[in-house]
Amino acid sequence: MRKIEPILDVKNLYTRFYTESGVVEALDGVNFDVGYGEPVGIVGESGCGKTVTSHSVLRILPKNGRILQPPSEIYYKGVNLLDLTDEQMRHVRGKEAAMIFQDPMTSLNPIFKISDQMVEVIQLHRKVNKNEARDIAIEMMEAVGIPDSAERIDNYPHQFSGGMRQRILIARALALQPSLLIADEPTTALDVTIQAQVLEIIKEMQKQFGLALMLITHNLGVVAEITKRVHIFYGGRVVESGPTEEIFVNPFHPYTRALFDSIPSLEQDKTRLETIPGTVPQLINPPQGCRFHPRCKYATEICRMARPPDVWVTETRRVQCHHWEELDLTIDKEKVKEVRRSTVSVEGV
Ligand SMILES: Nc1ncnc2c1ncn2[C@@H]1O[C@H](COP(=O)(O)OP(=O)(O)OP(=O)(O)O)[C@@H](O)[C@H]1O
Ligand SMILES: [Mg+2]
Repeated sequence: MRKIEPILDVKNLYTRFYTESGVVEALDGVNFDVGYGEPVGIVGESGCGKTVTSHSVLRILPKNGRILQPPSEIYYKGVNLLDLTDEQMRHVRGKEAAMIFQDPMTSLNPIFKISDQMVEVIQLHRKVNKNEARDIAIEMMEAVGIPDSAERIDNYPHQFSGGMRQRILIARALALQPSLLIADEPTTALDVTIQAQVLEIIKEMQKQFGLALMLITHNLGVVAEITKRVHIFYGGRVVESGPTEEIFVNPFHPYTRALFDSIPSLEQDKTRLETIPGTVPQLINPPQGCRFHPRCKYATEICRMARPPDVWVTETRRVQCHHWEELDLTIDKEKVKEVRRSTVSVEGV
């Protein structure tokens, strides 16, 4: 088992959605943790449960969503968030664990000035007066690289570019001095050139404030750049976890390896992007056994029949595969270098 003290420790998380077409088994026993001050990546194809996981942690699921209790447990600083009242949860969401979303526009109200959207929240959570809150807001806006923050704070959201809006949201989140920052694809709505700048800000802020970071992304290059540890999601489960450096050289799960293989090499024609055969599973009637088995070239009878157990291979590495011991999925060094440099996202693979 890991020795690092986790700030967030998610155990056996089962989240279901009740729909007219049936029950969506969106999360099916998700286990992962994030250490104090640790930048962690959450990776996986579209629909594998990354957003549902973050929304479950913050308890902001839509009405048709439910976390099954037992067995789900979500420990934050040692307290099970699922035992808290709505009021206590509001405090956690404001002050303890902040989230930045994919699309910066939907998180800002277009009819209010930025100052109105920052000052009040800061006042609410930090016991400061209005002027002090405004100063904190300006200071944070400067920290994330918004020029002339003292004037710009009285502008409206539409007066900022997408990249600047995302910076404002990062500033707002950090002004509350959270211990954990959850960033769900924080740059996918932005231009490629701006993406790198915003990621750089997140990286800097994480270091400067010693934040625990849960960075949800499709992009393995970003994972290499920012995170120390990574959790690979597939079909509503965590199939592999471990230090980023190690997983980038020697993954234990065939799905992790397939993610790397789907990144085109530099010489390769990018139109011939190698994809992982098959499609992401529908989670209303998901495959039995290992959920990856229909797409896995190593699958055998047991993979079709039985759910693979979570195995701790070392103190820091965990895998959910019946065959991990027999497989050598080592990635060659050149490929690792390419993935690190790549800006290609595995989205829609
Ligand atoms: N409100 C809902 N009702 C029914 N099913 C839902 C609902 N929200 C999410 N799901 C399903 O839960 C599964 C996980 O979705 P989730 O949004 O977490 O994926 P994701 O990994 O964040 O994907 P992406 O990379 O595209 O953002 C999907 O099958 C999705 O269709
Ligand atoms: Mg998502």
